[in-house]
Amino acid sequence: MAKYYITTPIYYITDKPHIGTAYTTVISDIIARWHRLCGDDVFFLTGTDEHGEKVQKASERAGMQPKEFADTMASKFSSAWKEYNITNDAFIRTTDRQHESIVAEFIKKLYDAGDIYKGEYEGWYCTPDETFLTELQLKDGKCPECGREVKKVKEESYFFRLSKYQDKLLELYDKNPLFISPKFRSGEIINRVKGGLKDISVTRTTIKWGITFPEDSNHTIYVWVDALVNYISALQWPDGGNMRFWPADAHIIGKEIAWFHTVIWPAMLFSAGIDAPKKIFSHGWWTVEGRKMSKSLGNMVDPIELKNKYGVDAIRYYFAREMPFGDDSDFSEKNLIARINGELVDDLGNLVYRSLTLAERFNGRIKGAPELDKGLDVEHIKTLMTNLDTFNAIEEIWSQVRRTNKYINEKQAWKLNGEELGSVIYNILESIRIISVLIGPFMPETAEKIRAQLGVDKQDISHCKFSDFNGRIKKEGHLFNKIEKTQGMNA
Ligand code: MSP
Repeated sequence: MAKYYITTPIYYITDKPHIGTAYTTVISDIIARWHRLCGDDVFFLTGTDEHGEKVQKASERAGMQPKEFADTMASKFSSAWKEYNITNDAFIRTTDRQHESIVAEFIKKLYDAGDIYKGEYEGWYCTPDETFLTELQLKDGKCPECGREVKKVKEESYFFRLSKYQDKLLELYDKNPLFISPKFRSGEIINRVKGGLKDISVTRTTIKWGITFPEDSNHTIYVWVDALVNYISALQWPDGGNMRFWPADAHIIGKEIAWFHTVIWPAMLFSAGIDAPKKIFSHGWWTVEGRKMSKSLGNMVDPIELKNKYGVDAIRYYFAREMPFGDDSDFSEKNLIARINGELVDDLGNLVYRSLTLAERFNGRIKGAPELDKGLDVEHIKTLMTNLDTFNAIEEIWSQVRRTNKYINEKQAWKLNGEELGSVIYNILESIRIISVLIGPFMPETAEKIRAQLGVDKQDISHCKFSDFNGRIKKEGHLFNKIEKTQGMNA
């Protein structure tokens, strides 16, 4: 059995979940479920990033102790993911005792390797992004990533010899062309690494809300070092049983944190003598109705409200279907409603409803030669999913949904009877059965509902071939309901 280890970023608890974090988590869940469907031994990790200046400040604003604040906020994430049917195997919090002691042990290893030395940091700091920035990196005096104010920092700090790992990193990229995925994101990072790496600050003296640096208790460990280690602390590095899942097969992240994951993280792992992960996949960013999503603009989209309004599977589907592989995309409720009405209600819902109506009325034998297997290429879908291309995979599955609807129309099934009708129904039901297996990772509740109506057991990828149909039909109502225009929040 192949192992498969997939992770999401751990989210800052200063925000509650929004569609950005929900998107990453849903896409990762789809991939994790897909691998389970293929029979792999999967470990899927998500969690929360709870230390650092940003959290310290937010808890002060809330008038709470940081840990108390963290507890309240972390539970918002774990409960949101439950509502989204996320099947994570663990939920890591960086304030977990075990994580804290593993981070201390990890940084000690870097220190013992001679890769950490004392110095003084003088430069800029973006608190919302928890990032150190040089004068040259600033854009109009602000953070180049988020456009917010930066502040001048001058303090004693320990540094990690990132510069030492330039060649090793370039070798890693060279030997593993898909390490930085999608490929179009790799050029910029590789060029920056080729341009030379500066050692990075990895401790702070002015921030108390962090893990104590074991070599000097006046310092706390920089929040990004603490955060990245979650990917191995959750497996109980160094010798916990779950380390068999390492190296991670895929770290799924948003594009803005690619540098930390593709440069700093593997360099630290090299220093500690640990293998690099296999792939870092950066997806694009959602804008909302054409604008950047931000608290100050007041346009954060709440995934729980969305889900309560449209249903969890509709949102999971929309996430997978709307955002092209690795690119940016715009969220709009109008678009969401159009997809629900067109693709879920008309394409899939209608297909299942009319097919089961036909099948229920028919009392002959459901049997025939496979015809609808022609355009369906399960191997191709598998390849797309292995490449984390959920966008094209769902598109490919939808081709089969449309093909099946077209087949019913072309055959004018409602006019047939006897063996001829039995054969058409056979083709339609087998096609729907296979569709229900393939959409399972994307829309688990819908897949389950279809299977219940077909009267078939839970199946895996090996059952995606046309064979005999031996379900016991039990037709129910429609899978999805049409959304009226007036029901939309802003539509
Ligand atoms: N705590 C760090 C990650 C540490 S991982 C070792 C962090 N947290 S975050 O709360 O800011 O979450 C960032 C992640 O949320 C992004 O990488 C991305 O996955 C997701 N998104 C946040 N806003 C987003 C959009 N507008 N669109 C899509 N995803 C975005 O960074």
